[in-house]
Amino acid sequence: AQLWPGLIDAFRDRLPVSDRTPVITLFEGGTPLVPAAELSRRTGCEVYLKVEGANPTGSFKDRGMTMAISKAAEEGARAVICASTGNTSASAAAYAVRAGMTCAVLVPQGKIALGKMAQALVHGAKLLQVDGNFDDCLELARKLAVDYPVALVNSVNPYRIEGQKTAAFEVCDRLGRAPDVHCIPVGNAGNITAYWKGYREYASDCVVAGTPRMFGFQAAGAAPIVNGAPVLAPMTIATAIRIGNPASWALAEAARDESGGLIDSVTDKQILEAYRLVARSEAVFVEPASAASIAGLLKTAADGRLPTGSTVVCTVTGNGLKDPEWAIAGAPKPITVPVDSHAAAAQLGLVR
Ligand code: F0G
Repeated sequence: AQLWPGLIDAFRDRLPVSDRTPVITLFEGGTPLVPAAELSRRTGCEVYLKVEGANPTGSFKDRGMTMAISKAAEEGARAVICASTGNTSASAAAYAVRAGMTCAVLVPQGKIALGKMAQALVHGAKLLQVDGNFDDCLELARKLAVDYPVALVNSVNPYRIEGQKTAAFEVCDRLGRAPDVHCIPVGNAGNITAYWKGYREYASDCVVAGTPRMFGFQAAGAAPIVNGAPVLAPMTIATAIRIGNPASWALAEAARDESGGLIDSVTDKQILEAYRLVARSEAVFVEPASAASIAGLLKTAADGRLPTGSTVVCTVTGNGLKDPEWAIAGAPKPITVPVDSHAAAAQLGLVR
């Protein structure tokens, strides 16, 4: 069997790399496209999940980070910095280790999931909790990158988008066509921008015919693009997309408009319902922010905006293990039994 070489080598001819670019990789990309039977049944569509939680650090950020860190290494950087709601910091910290760089991360105090914090720390990042939200962290990171010798690896770094666009290539390669609709969570709006770039490139080079309509979903308490104005105090249990003033706002609107798509919001209640559904019925454990794409799929199917019979891909952006709080919160408390088969059988409802 052919081993997956990581996305830079898999898509080298479509990425801004040369033989002078050191490839800093954890063999990211090549993630599963999983058919979703129950979601297909409920929506009358053919639904697939692009499971980005299968990446090395458990989120799609690794696609962007292999590119951003490789290019930073090519340019001689010794240190990188990012603002993050958690996943970017986990990924940056890991890839910085591979590159022998130091990594600084700025996170909103008390607002990142425990697993992501653990990742940044275990990989040795210098982590600062900022008394502010993600938007404040990004402003600070941008300023530090201007004033000090440290490379910014947030998605405002164009190499991040280049790496992340490869997910669209993989979807088309696997389906043998572009989907009709692509559902995706929207936070800082880098990923919807990246997918749209990838789909456009495959279409303009005639690798596949056509492009999907891009359906982006923000959390209702953090939905600046839907509201048409920045949200000063963004609020949602989906901490990964708790963002009030996305850096790629205009590009997300362009993806929406050029693709004939939409950007809508989903409530925390809808997010949590989708989160449990996708775990229970598709066996895919995602983090709450990732379930925004599923919640959006169900919402647009229910109100008629998603045409029946469409081929739909939902990106589920991050692994559920990063934020176990919500999995445990919604589950019954485990029952303790003695070492006794009758007692265990009784509790399990087993009958002979
Ligand atoms: N899903 C997850 C799990 C994320 O971590 C993010 C963003 C998004 C969706 C939204 O993607 O920002 O490209 O629109 N997380 C960033 C971070 C902000 O710092 O980890 P986006």
